[in-house]
Amino acid sequence: MKKSKLTIVGGGSTYTLGILMSLIEEANHLPLSEITLYDTDISRQEKIGKAANILLKEHYPSLEKFEYTSNQSTAFKDADIIFVQIRTGGLLMRELDEQIPIQHGLVGQETCGAGGMSYGLRSIPDMIQLVKDIRSINKEAWVLNYTNPAAIVGLALDKVFPDDNRLLNICDMPIAIMKSYADILDEDVWNLEADYFGLNHFGWFTKIRNKYGHDYTSELKHLIKNNDFKPTDKLIANDPSWQSTFKQAKQMVQDFEEYLPNTYLQYYLYPNQLSQKESANNTRARQVINGREKEVFNDCDTIINQNNTENIDISGDIHGVYMIRIAASLVHHLKERFIIITRNEGIIPNLPSDALVEVPALLGKNGAEPFKVGEIPTFYKGLLENQYAYEKLVVEAYFENDYNKLLQALVLNRTVIDTNKAKNVLNDLFEANKEYWPNLN
Ligand code: G6P
Ligand code: MN
Repeated sequence: MKKSKLTIVGGGSTYTLGILMSLIEEANHLPLSEITLYDTDISRQEKIGKAANILLKEHYPSLEKFEYTSNQSTAFKDADIIFVQIRTGGLLMRELDEQIPIQHGLVGQETCGAGGMSYGLRSIPDMIQLVKDIRSINKEAWVLNYTNPAAIVGLALDKVFPDDNRLLNICDMPIAIMKSYADILDEDVWNLEADYFGLNHFGWFTKIRNKYGHDYTSELKHLIKNNDFKPTDKLIANDPSWQSTFKQAKQMVQDFEEYLPNTYLQYYLYPNQLSQKESANNTRARQVINGREKEVFNDCDTIINQNNTENIDISGDIHGVYMIRIAASLVHHLKERFIIITRNEGIIPNLPSDALVEVPALLGKNGAEPFKVGEIPTFYKGLLENQYAYEKLVVEAYFENDYNKLLQALVLNRTVIDTNKAKNVLNDLFEANKEYWPNLN
């Protein structure tokens, strides 16, 4: 198999070492000759980069070259695959995205509701610039973007780069949920196949079967309704916040048993319950800053000081393996099936054609070939049209500098609804994002 060159943009992320471990574990699926980490935050990049160098020397002997850089031409030239995981404003701005809505009695979440809008308006300009920069240097690379909020970022990118079919937006939530399904069913997650539809962080599994055609859907619903439903992927299994999210998913299946929900639907289906659970001084961002971020950078220090990875517990995870198998399917034309984000264009005929939907597709050298979903029932159509209208208005507000469209977007969003609340939260988010958001009229 031909070896590929991979670049990770946002190389200083807390996810990078886990992705590198996944690359090591998946070296048979996606053999690499070179890995490059790229980040605009030089000090974060240097720490992760130095530790990564030691890790890869130990565990990836067939890798020919590794470097970390803040130079775009070094990072993008000749890359076959580019993973993009940037976070404009960092975790400190994530904290405000979550805190400010909570202070208004609303759901405080990085990708849903008012926080998602706030983060979206920061991510859009950086992502557009980044894709322009990548394409000015490299026209051919597969760009796999999982920068959040993927729904809004994806829509904006689709407006600016409508013909770029080597640019794919991806989310790991469906596969992380499927990992829990696999464990309840005592199956291998890579043997499971899903039918799924929705928008990013807003969708449902309609069927789960294995590769040999055995349909698990009813059994799975029964098991989830009657047992604990838990996160089982290493990255999230022991995290109380994710445990509580999966518990809520069990409630959703009990309340709406027609389809199996994406865990993010909890914010839209139980906004009052969810906002009451949250506290402004213990946001998810704060938990990540004090938890995962500290651990990762402590691990880096230890690795660098002892010059090896002994006694350091880093392992691959479903998030990394998912991106890697997607890349392998594209680069080696494997035409394997994955849930990805793509322009609707009739996949769900009773939803707007320009919406970005999350659906299963075969991935090969021509990009994504999505499966048709067909018409969806009224409940889902209503929810999705509403959510898509919110996403579309946020993106239009960005391009048109239109305050009114942002207000309309928030009033549509199921986590906000009330116009007075929408105005107040919008003003506070605007203040907090002065250096990032466009001017609004
Ligand atoms: C899932 C979602 C991602 C999101 C992440 C947040 O993986 O699919 O889009 O970024 O959760 O996780 P965290 O642990 O940072 O709250
Ligand atoms: Mn996601």
